[in-house]
Amino acid sequence: MNVLGIETSCDETAAAVVGSRGILADVTVTQAGHAAFGGVVPEIAARGHVELLPSLVRQALAEAGLERPDAVAATTGPGLAGALLVGLSFGQALALGFGVPFVSVNHLEAHLLSAQLENPELEWPFLGLVVSGGHTALYLSAGLGSTRRVAETVDDAAGEAYDKVARMLGLGWPGGPAVDRMAASGDPRAVRFPRPAPGGLDWSFSGLKTAVRQHLSRPDRASDADVCASFQAAVVEVLCDRVVRAARELAVPRVALAGGVAANSELRRVMSSSGLQVFLPARSRCTDNGAMVAYAGRLHALAGHVTEGPAVARPDWELE
Ligand code: KG4
Ligand code: ZN
Repeated sequence: MNVLGIETSCDETAAAVVGSRGILADVTVTQAGHAAFGGVVPEIAARGHVELLPSLVRQALAEAGLERPDAVAATTGPGLAGALLVGLSFGQALALGFGVPFVSVNHLEAHLLSAQLENPELEWPFLGLVVSGGHTALYLSAGLGSTRRVAETVDDAAGEAYDKVARMLGLGWPGGPAVDRMAASGDPRAVRFPRPAPGGLDWSFSGLKTAVRQHLSRPDRASDADVCASFQAAVVEVLCDRVVRAARELAVPRVALAGGVAANSELRRVMSSSGLQVFLPARSRCTDNGAMVAYAGRLHALAGHVTEGPAVARPDWELE
């Protein structure tokens, strides 16, 4: 079964085809119009999807050598309402036109399952750490459609903290990759930033961001590289600490990483030496992409989970 997957929940417009042999086509455009505003502008994102999606879908089907997929899947939540509506309307109209089933896909489940796309040996149950600009949460995935949240951030997402620190240092947006690069030449022990522990397995990143701001206003402040390395050390330490604890408490020694921050070099290095079985997506597949939607959609279609009647956008769709 060849499934066309459409992703439009934020600022990536993406289309891909996944079949029994894996990824047959995968095209993603990261919209350029947002950087000047220092963040994603929902209206610009939705208009961008309207402009880009038809040609990306045509390209994906051509690359896959398909006139018609066997099902169409689209992200229907969580995400920006207007942006989601573009992808799901387009996807459902295509499915109707082709006379094939339509599958609504949860964006977070797609991120989690995408680890299996590159690592077919990843078996259930596994822990999934989703770390992006909008989400920081740890899930226990016990099977298709059977996932529960084990921990989450009580305030900022990890990627959001990266973006805010980058802004303080004038490093542009999105800031994660810039902070990651700058940290490589800094000393992670230069500044001891706090490691907030709001309780249980949850995270908090807003206090850390405030500590960085306060440090930067000191006359004897560390260099930008040292600040980046020290900030990154604090983020990675608390992320890994909770994952390792959860793995022990739940007796699940497998963890898959997903989301933009999963591309972070220090997070990948520290997680890989945690003693757990760690599944890392290729850096290019950490951020939003169509292949993860096509893959999740394909699994659901094969299990008979198709959407009957009109699909709806669910901007706050929790994965439970
Ligand atoms: O998953 P994603 O593309 O979009 C969502 O937020 O859903 O993630 C983007 C986030 C941004 O906050 C960006 O700064 C962060 O991921 N990011 C990184 C790195 N690459 C991207 N953060 C830390 N280190 C990186 N190498
Ligand atoms: Zn995402």
